[in-house]
Amino acid sequence: MDTRPIGIFDSGLGGLTVLKELQKEFVNEDFIYLGDTLNFPYGEKTKDEITQFSKNNIEYLIKQNVKLIIIACGTATSQCIDEVKKTFNIPIIGIIEPTVEYVKKSKIKEIGVMATNGTIRSGAWEFNLKQEMPDIKVISKACPLLANIVEEGKIASKESLDAIHNYVQIFKENDIKHIILGCTHYPLYDEIIKKEFNYDVNLINTAKGVATYLKEFLNKSKIENSKRTFASKIVITKQEKDFEKRAKNILEVNKCEIFLQNY
Ligand code: DGL
Repeated sequence: MDTRPIGIFDSGLGGLTVLKELQKEFVNEDFIYLGDTLNFPYGEKTKDEITQFSKNNIEYLIKQNVKLIIIACGTATSQCIDEVKKTFNIPIIGIIEPTVEYVKKSKIKEIGVMATNGTIRSGAWEFNLKQEMPDIKVISKACPLLANIVEEGKIASKESLDAIHNYVQIFKENDIKHIILGCTHYPLYDEIIKKEFNYDVNLINTAKGVATYLKEFLNKSKIENSKRTFASKIVITKQEKDFEKRAKNILEVNKCEIFLQNY
């Protein structure tokens, strides 16, 4: 047993889609969530910058005495998961490997990936999918506007609908029915994307694979907690006016206190 919390980070609000799922699945665990709002958007930064931000985030979470870290960010996972795993002596779980395992079990043969510019440029999803399933057909699409629209609180806008409409054309043209939401902000567009496909599409939320992977990991390492104490603490690195309101919407809670950590 290990009563320490689990650390999670992302560049902003997106990783809360992962936190939400994990809070539901792991009722005895506590979580510390770090949103690096100061450095958002990661998707438009260089590999070196993202690696440095990720290292700062991990160092902060280690100081909070977490027992393991989840990188709830596709961009950070794609750019530096191997490097940070080598650098730090703490278990680190990204979103790509668990999702690839999920896809493999589902026996999917053709798949789409929607993600940030940085993630698509890295080729990490395609590489990892093909490592496990050499014959899988992968169609990737960078969707650079989507994370920003979430942070600006404009998911229900015309800009958002138009962006989604354009981004999904390539999947429609190729008759792709399974799409990985390769950025943790994107599950917030679930309904809009499904509507574009007349609900004939399977959207893969990376939080699902992460939850399965985490369950096995906690069990195997015997580091489960037996009783939740504070549920979750949310920390951001730059004050954002509506962060609290948006976080509450995403987590579907009435109350959530946001702490500021200056780097
Ligand atoms: N939520 C992040 C991801 O999963 C990144 C968005 C961004 O900072 O550009 O890729």
